[in-house]
Amino acid sequence: MDNFMIRGGRPLNGQAIISGSKNAALPILAATLLTREKCEIKNVPELMDIKSTFELLNYLGKNCFYGYGNFVAEEHAQLKLHAPYDLVRKMRASVLVAGPLLARFRKVRFSLPGGCSIGMRPIDIHLEGFKKLGAQVAYEKGDVILSAKKLKPGKVKFRFPSVGATENLMMCAALIEGATTLENCAREPEIEDLAAALVKMGAAVTGAGTPVIKITGAARLKGLKHTIMPDRVETGTFMLLCAAAGGRIKLLNTAPKTLEALIRAMKKAGVKINTFKDSMEIIAPQGRPRPVSVVTKPHPGFPTDLQAPWMAFMARANGTSEVHEQIFENRFMHAPELIRMGADITVLDRKAVIRGVPHLLGAPVMASDIRAGAAMVVAAASAKGKSVIRRIYHIDRGYEKLEHKLKDLGVDASRVKA
Ligand code: UD1
Repeated sequence: MDNFMIRGGRPLNGQAIISGSKNAALPILAATLLTREKCEIKNVPELMDIKSTFELLNYLGKNCFYGYGNFVAEEHAQLKLHAPYDLVRKMRASVLVAGPLLARFRKVRFSLPGGCSIGMRPIDIHLEGFKKLGAQVAYEKGDVILSAKKLKPGKVKFRFPSVGATENLMMCAALIEGATTLENCAREPEIEDLAAALVKMGAAVTGAGTPVIKITGAARLKGLKHTIMPDRVETGTFMLLCAAAGGRIKLLNTAPKTLEALIRAMKKAGVKINTFKDSMEIIAPQGRPRPVSVVTKPHPGFPTDLQAPWMAFMARANGTSEVHEQIFENRFMHAPELIRMGADITVLDRKAVIRGVPHLLGAPVMASDIRAGAAMVVAAASAKGKSVIRRIYHIDRGYEKLEHKLKDLGVDASRVKA
C-alpha cells in the first residue's frame, strides 16, 4: 500500500492542468448503456472510480477501451442486466447504471451501492422517481430489482435535490418516448454536462442547471462524442492548497464559473483570485487568513466536497470560524486528523468550530474518504515539517496523478511504499 509523504511549510509556485471531472464522467459513462452505438468520450480522468465503472460496464457486456483520457464504449452482444455486489460495493455511483438499463430493457437488478463512509446515503429518492415512471421495485438477497411492462413519461418531484437521483432519472427519461418533467432537481454543473451528452444522443433536454428539467425522450438513442467538463472539486482543492500553504499558482483548463461560492468565501478570507474564461490565478494572503464560516448546500451553495479542505485552510485562520455540514450526516472524519496536526477543532453533530492556530505541525495522518484525504494534503502542505498520509487509496479515487501535480505546484510531495 502507498503513502504520501509531504514536507510542508514552503510557499507554492507553479501551475497545474485540471483533469476532467470525475463526477461528470461517471454518469456520462453510465449513459453509454442507453445505446448500442459507439460512444467516444474524451478528457476522462484516470482514477480508481473510473476504472471501477470501466470494469462494471465491461461486466455488463459493453466493450470498453480506456486510456490517455479517452474512453470508448461499443456493444457487440446482449447486455447482462445484473450489477453484482463485488463490482458495485466499491463505489456509490455504480447505482447510475440502473436508470439506463431500466429504460432500455425494462428490467435491472443491482446490489445496493458502497462508496465513501460519510453517512447513510440511501437511494430512496432514485427509487421513488423510477416508480413514478412506472417501475416496480422489489428486493432479493441484498439486491434491488426494478422492472416495468412499459415505462411512461410523467412528473417526478424529488423530496431533496439529490445529484445522483437527478442524473439517474434524466437518463431513464431520455429513453421514454414523451415529455417527462423533473422538479426540485440538483443544479450541479455536472448535471448540465450530462444533459449536453443526452442531447447529443438524441433526447431533448431543457432546464439543466435549474430546479426544473424537461426531457423529451426518444425510442432509440444514438452514440455520442463528448468531452468531459473540468473537475471543479480538484480545482477547488488546489485553490485551497495554495491559500493554506502560501505563494501563488495558476490553474489551467478549468471553469471558474462553476466555483463561485468557493471564490466568494476565499476572497473574504483574504485570498486574491484572478479568473479568466478557462484558467485562474490564486495569490495566498500575506500572513494568516481571516476566519470565514461556511454552510454546505446544494449547488450553487458551498459544496460539501470542498468542506474538508476548507477546514484545513481555516485551521490556521486568525480567529474562530464554523463549518455547518448540511448534506451528509457524518462528514467530519478529517477533524480528528487535523487535530493530530495541532488544529483546535470541536465537532458538535453537524457543526465544527475551528479556532485558528498560528501553525500546524507535520504528523502521521490518514485519509478516511476522498475529500478528507484532500484535507490532509492541504494541511500537510501548510504544516511545518514532514507528514505521512496513509490510506491514500481513498485520495486515488478522486485525484489524478496527484503527486505529479503537487510537484508542479511547488509542493515537496512523493508517493512512498508503506
Ligand atoms: C454526488 C457526488 C458527491 C457529492 C454529492 C453532494 C457524484 C459521483 N458524487 O453524490 O461527490 O458529495 O453529490 O454534492 O456525483 N440521499 C437520500 N436518498 C437518495 C439519494 C440521496 O437520502 O436516494 C441523501 C444522501 O444520503 C445525502 C444527500 O441526499 O445526504 C445528497 O446526496 P446526493 O446528492 O444524491 O449525492 P450523490 O449523488 O451520492
